[in-house]
Amino acid sequence: MLALKNLKKSYTDAGEQHTILNNINLTINAGDSISIQGASGSGKSTLLHLLAALDKPDSGEILLNNSQQPNQGNDITQFTEKEADAYRQFRVGLIFQKFNLIDCITVMENVMLPAKITGKVQGEYIQELLDALDIHRHINKLPSQLSGGEQQRVAIARGLSHQPPLLLADEPTGNLDSKNSDLVSHLLVTTCKKLNTALVMVTHSQKVALLTQQQWYLDDGRLTQI
Ligand SMILES: Nc1ncnc2c1ncn2[C@@H]1O[C@H](COP(=O)(O)OP(=O)(O)O)[C@@H](O)[C@H]1O
Ligand SMILES: [Mg+2]
Repeated sequence: MLALKNLKKSYTDAGEQHTILNNINLTINAGDSISIQGASGSGKSTLLHLLAALDKPDSGEILLNNSQQPNQGNDITQFTEKEADAYRQFRVGLIFQKFNLIDCITVMENVMLPAKITGKVQGEYIQELLDALDIHRHINKLPSQLSGGEQQRVAIARGLSHQPPLLLADEPTGNLDSKNSDLVSHLLVTTCKKLNTALVMVTHSQKVALLTQQQWYLDDGRLTQI
């Protein structure tokens, strides 16, 4: 689905160049579940931003295998703003550490945002998602009326409401206590599996990482499978 080839990214700080990602290679197939661990500042979020076409590498490619054009590779690093917007809206779901829910609208309205934007509103699928994440009884509340674990479950539902083939999660359990971290990470992995959504999850937790099929580690700009 996505093939990362020789990705490089560096930042210049006070005239000094720091290589954050150095020749990253990774293939993400449909339905894969992948965790990425690494020390703080090792470039995990930078890598997810590249996958979401929110940022561009210095060099390298991220080839998207488009199901509508099976023989054509599309390099998302070369996308125009408009193409990147469409890629994010239709192909990617995003979940962040701090939930990032919109507090002046209900839980259901939050969940439905990506689905409404893409016009992919499928009632049965949404019900299945709400069931899988056990948030039915909260749909008319405001996010602030929920616990941290419940809010993160809503964020997962929002990340998946438009049925993206790829879900990117940046430390999705980083703000939860260990009990909720276990619950939410387990739900995240099993929900993606059920929906055949590829998951790339950045995490600090070895325990959470072990829930995914592939564990990768980012250190000194290099990504290695562990
Ligand atoms: N826009 C930026 N400009 C300069 N340096 C940045 C920028 N974004 C990230 N960095 C630096 O790149 C490194 C990796 O950051 P990040 O990807 O956020 O790491 P992680 O998510 O693994 O903690 C850090 O040293 C950070 O300070
Ligand atoms: Mg980060």
